[in-house]
Amino acid sequence: MKALQDSLLNWYFLNGRLDLPWRNLPTQSNTPNPQLKQISRSYGVYISEIMLQQTQVNVVMERFYFPFLQTFPTLSSLAKAPQEEVLKAWQGLGYYTRARNMHQCAKTCLDQYGGSLPSEIAQLKALSGIGNYTAGAIACFGFGACVSFVDGNIARVISRLFALTKPSMKTLEQIAQKLLNLHNPFDHNQALLDLGATICTPKNPSCLLCPLQSFCKGQASPHLFPTPKKSQSIPLQLHLGFYLQNDKISLLKSQEKLYFGLYNPIRLQEDEIQNAQLLGSFNHSYTKYAIKAKVYLLKSIPPAEIEFFTQKQIQSLPLSNLCKKALHLL
Ligand code: ADE
Repeated sequence: MKALQDSLLNWYFLNGRLDLPWRNLPTQSNTPNPQLKQISRSYGVYISEIMLQQTQVNVVMERFYFPFLQTFPTLSSLAKAPQEEVLKAWQGLGYYTRARNMHQCAKTCLDQYGGSLPSEIAQLKALSGIGNYTAGAIACFGFGACVSFVDGNIARVISRLFALTKPSMKTLEQIAQKLLNLHNPFDHNQALLDLGATICTPKNPSCLLCPLQSFCKGQASPHLFPTPKKSQSIPLQLHLGFYLQNDKISLLKSQEKLYFGLYNPIRLQEDEIQNAQLLGSFNHSYTKYAIKAKVYLLKSIPPAEIEFFTQKQIQSLPLSNLCKKALHLL
């Protein structure tokens, strides 16, 4: 066990992504990234973990992490912001449920914990949008707790290491706990995440470069561990319409789960497109949907509840990428 842990850490110190900003937040003993001097460690870790749930590291780092923390430098400032501002700062990251849960979580922390995240796993898991993995990651990376946890990358590393085809989450969590380096849980867990992301990748893993090669039972056929899940996207045909009125464009604040709170074109039923002018079409993928969208200019009298916006006003609204593509056609 010690040989495996040492091998992992040595590899991490030489090849890991040590400079990632959320790994260099202020503690009592380090010199933080200068842009993050004012950010509390648990808050900076929390935001990174929520962003990284469904978005790649380079996208988060290059485009979203610093601007978001500049807009909302504390959990309390996030709690007090209107939902529309939070969605605007999240624009482009997709999976907007994350942003709404985060906002709710910040409000709960303001009410119950004086505006900070709690450090106990059970209290973290009771907050909106925080499950086992994220609670463990915040406890370890944000508060220095000696805990293990499993996300998709760590699950793959463990499954291959022990040649497990369909391990349950419970089994994976038990193994992660046994592997945990009690002397340095922070770097151990960051190292596992890096190993999964850069060496033990889903396709074509680089087993010859892997620090755990001599311990790995699955290296002869890594693609079998774990058995890949078939993920099929669901086709969805959408008809999207705009009204124009004095150079202003109609948009609707979505009440549907898919895009709740974001501004979108009007979604039309088949029988509503007869008198509309087709402007063009595009493909778009969003969460599990493979969307084929057709965009129309509507000629009928707009219903009373429709709002109209100038192009300048539209720039400050939270918009889905779907909406941006449709506006581009318009
Ligand atoms: N994905 C989830 N958490 C991460 C972290 N702390 N560093 C890199 N990638 C991650």
